[in-house]
Amino acid sequence: MIFGKKKKREERRIPSVYEIYENALEKLKLRAPGYTIRHAREDDLDKVREINLKTLPENYPPSFFYDLWSSWGKAFYVAISPNDEIVGYIMCRVEHKPGFYRHFLVRSGHVVSIAVLEQHRRRGLGYGLMAYAMKSLHEEYNCEETYLEVRVSNIPAINLYKKLGYEIVKIEAHYYLDGEDAYVMARPLP
Ligand code: ACO
Ligand code: ZN
Repeated sequence: MIFGKKKKREERRIPSVYEIYENALEKLKLRAPGYTIRHAREDDLDKVREINLKTLPENYPPSFFYDLWSSWGKAFYVAISPNDEIVGYIMCRVEHKPGFYRHFLVRSGHVVSIAVLEQHRRRGLGYGLMAYAMKSLHEEYNCEETYLEVRVSNIPAINLYKKLGYEIVKIEAHYYLDGEDAYVMARPLP
């Protein structure tokens, strides 16, 4: 490099939320024709809970889904199949916490849970749900960062989050009930 100091660490190019959102729409058009992503409604929550029970070991009582939906509904989305069934969801919580990228309290969009039914995976719905939620966390809730926890063995999800600009910022030892560790992954917004 001729100008300036050598960078201390390699600069990470993080795709912006807008770029990700545009990519998501493109990907869905090509790989998930007939599917849609929309805000969750109250009467979707039973089905969301059913998908959560089918796909993840981290399960919650109905009140948990309702509380997230009623408090942060603009970042709670569902994916709908061509025959009008709910096949995926994402739900988030907005928290005030010390930032990973700033040394004071920030508004951080915590992705609490995301899942897509097995028969509907690899069409871009996971990416799409994340794109919609990240955009809302930024535009509706003014979040400066977003973070999530993921099992260290969950390669599909880790790959998805990396593609969305998240990086591993911490390991939480024995985070899950069965003793598995979690990666905490985060990125700044937008
Ligand atoms: N192997 C490797 N990479 C994968 C895989 C896989 N099986 N699945 C997705 N990816 C990566 C790829 O990079 C993929 O891009 P590509 O298809 O262009 O190569 C990218 O993620 C996006 O994939 P999508 O098709 O958008 O994701 P999908 O709709 O399949 O949903 C999800 C991904 C939500 C992780 C799904 O596998 C799932 O529901 N798993 C079970 C539930 C779960 O583990 N949820 C996350 C828990 S952590 C949390 O909730 C915060
Ligand atoms: Zn979490």
